[in-house]
This record gives sequence, C-alpha cells and structure tokens, in this order.
Amino acid sequence: MLEKSIQKFKEIYGSDGEYRTYFAPGRVNLIGEHTDYNGGHVFPCALTLGTYAVVRDRGDRKLRFYSMNFSSLGVIESDLDDLVPRKSASWTNYPKGVMWAFEKRGYKLSHGLDILINGDIPNGSGLSSSASLETLTGLILKDTFAFDTVTMTDIALIGQDSENNFNGCNCGIMDQFASAMGKKDHAIFLDTNTLNYEYAPVKLPDAKIIITNSKVKHSLVDSAYNDRRNECETALKELQAAADIQTLGDLTEEEYEAHKDAVKDPVRQKRAKHAVYENQRTILAVEALKNNQIELFGKLMNASHESLKNDYEVSCEEIDILVDLAQAMPGVLGSRITGGGFGGCTVSIVKNDAIDDFISSIGKAYLEKVGHSAEFYVVDIGDGAHKLG
Ligand code: GLA
Repeated sequence: MLEKSIQKFKEIYGSDGEYRTYFAPGRVNLIGEHTDYNGGHVFPCALTLGTYAVVRDRGDRKLRFYSMNFSSLGVIESDLDDLVPRKSASWTNYPKGVMWAFEKRGYKLSHGLDILINGDIPNGSGLSSSASLETLTGLILKDTFAFDTVTMTDIALIGQDSENNFNGCNCGIMDQFASAMGKKDHAIFLDTNTLNYEYAPVKLPDAKIIITNSKVKHSLVDSAYNDRRNECETALKELQAAADIQTLGDLTEEEYEAHKDAVKDPVRQKRAKHAVYENQRTILAVEALKNNQIELFGKLMNASHESLKNDYEVSCEEIDILVDLAQAMPGVLGSRITGGGFGGCTVSIVKNDAIDDFISSIGKAYLEKVGHSAEFYVVDIGDGAHKLG
C-alpha cells in the first residue's frame, strides 16, 4: 500500500522535495453501540486496515488533495483561506474540516500541503473510513506544524468536532478515539462520559473476530443517525424530571425500569432502553472477556444485536440475514451489527475450526438470499494513528 502510494504521489505532485508518510486505522466495535453519545461505554478496537497519507509542504497557502480511492476526481484544489464545506469538495471536506477545527482552536496553519490519500477500508461499510481520514489529518497537522501540546485524545476530539460541525453528522467520540488511540491486540474500554479508558487484551485462544460486510449502504444514514440522537436527548430530558442523572449512561436497568414512564413516547422509550441496557451489557462483556468467559461475551453480543434490531431499529434486512445465519452456525460464539447501522458490517466471534465453513456457507446463503456477495475479513487488531516516515 505505502510503496504504491509514494509512487503515485511522485507521479501526481512531482518527485522533487521531501515527503512524510502517515497511517490511521479504521475500527470495529465489539460491543457498546449507540452508547457513545449517551454517556455510556464502548469497546472498539483499531484494525490493521486503514488510511495512508503521503504529504509534502508547500511554500504558499494552497491545498492539493488526491485520493487513490477516488482517482476519477483527480487533484482537488483548495486553500487554507477557504475552509468551508462544499458539496463539490467531495471527500476533501473531511481533511478540510479537521483543518478548520484546528484553526478554530487557535492553531495557525502557516502553509499549504500536497496530500495523497490511499485507504483499504471499504467506504461506507461502517468501519470508520471517514474517522480514520479525520484522525490521519489531525496527526499530519500536529506533526507538520509541531503542535506538541496536542495529544492523540485531542486529535480524536478535534476529528469529532469537524464531523459534527463541518460535515454535519452528529457522531459520538468512539470512531475517532479508536482510530487515534488503538493498541495492537487490545480493545479499548472507553467511558465516553469521562474519556477514561482502559486497554483490554483480546486473546481468544481458539477463535477469531470476523467482520462480514453486507455491501449495503442505505441512504439517509446520517439523518437517521441524527434522529436517534435527538430521540435519546429528548428521552434524557424527560427522565431528568424523574431521576438525578446527567446521561442515560448513569442509569442501571432497574433504575430505568423504575422511571421509564417519564418517557412519554413508546418509540423514545425503546431508544432509551437500548442506550441503558447496551451500556450495562458492555460493562458486563468487558468483565467476561477479562475472565476468559468468551461464551458469555458472545451471548452479550447476540443480545446487543437483538436490542439494536428491535429497540433501536438501526439494523436492516440484509444485516439481519447475516446475523441470523451466523448465530445459527455451530462454532459461532456471537454475532451482531457493528457501527452506525442501516447496512455496513456485522462482527462475529468464530471458533478457528469453523471459520472456513462460516465464510463459505454464509457467503453462499447470503448470495442466494440477497442477490449479491458479502465480504469477509478476519480481524487483526492494530495500533492507532502513527507516523510512518
Ligand atoms: C457511528 C458513530 C459513532 C457511534 C456509532 C454507533 O460509527 O460515528 O460515534 O455512535 O455510530 O455506536
């Protein structure tokens, strides 16, 4: 990936002058879905799939972007004095949003850049290709302009700010945090209310994590996502009239059940129920993993899917087909939708000796039922964003 990217960089921008290289990963969330904007816990890990950048300084304030993933768009030009979102700017709204968010915090970007991007995360699959691009840009800026006080957590927060306020998706902190802070062979148990976190080793003695890409991306993903967030915010306000809480993550299941009538709308009740139960499930799941109770971890993943499907309603037919097929197979410990939802991927824990069968039988059955193929990735958990050279 990197060699090809450097070669292309020289072809596009010329071979004279120094360049630097960087990488930021995508992520898969093991459990704790739609909890990160509800003050709850999440448990994602960084992938070895991700986004690479080759970067060179410019003497002026121009920005030139080229993505090998959108090569038909060619070089997209902009300027540090024009950091405004535009439809015509396409994917470059992500790096530009991060530049805008740095400037907003008073970090002056004193010169322009030539940037080439190349990623191996399938776009729109719910594996955080956009968050990885944001984290990558944050790292490029920190390194290029020697913003030494900017931490990797700051980079995650800046990425989230740019996504919320420049690109219009009201996402939580999970994706950018996982991309910035990931650690090889570990998942991150993050309390999104305090940003306290702990790395938990993911050592599955005889099983692997498998991502299945449904290759379905429904439109309206961002607006449905923002709707869920609004529903939870309203439910929180209603519950605050009955209980002394700051976030839905403050409630146990029992407390929620005792106060749920404060939420006046049945749909909002289901949303809040998911946020509360999923948070508690995540805490239990991490405990189970620490105690090597992988079977219990898998059961909690299944329960998470059930709740995302029925109470939070962020699954879709194709994803449910994948999850049903997986959960019915011997050797599968757990399976659920992962990420924002409405398509994208599932994550499953599969015993080593069942993996071949998992891929071939689910692949075949999915193709028959849905009419197009799914894709499978056996997960390697990698490190967070870093400079390569
Ligand atoms: C998207 C968002 C995250 C998180 C997940 C759902 O990936 O970017 O912040 O809310 O959906 O868990």
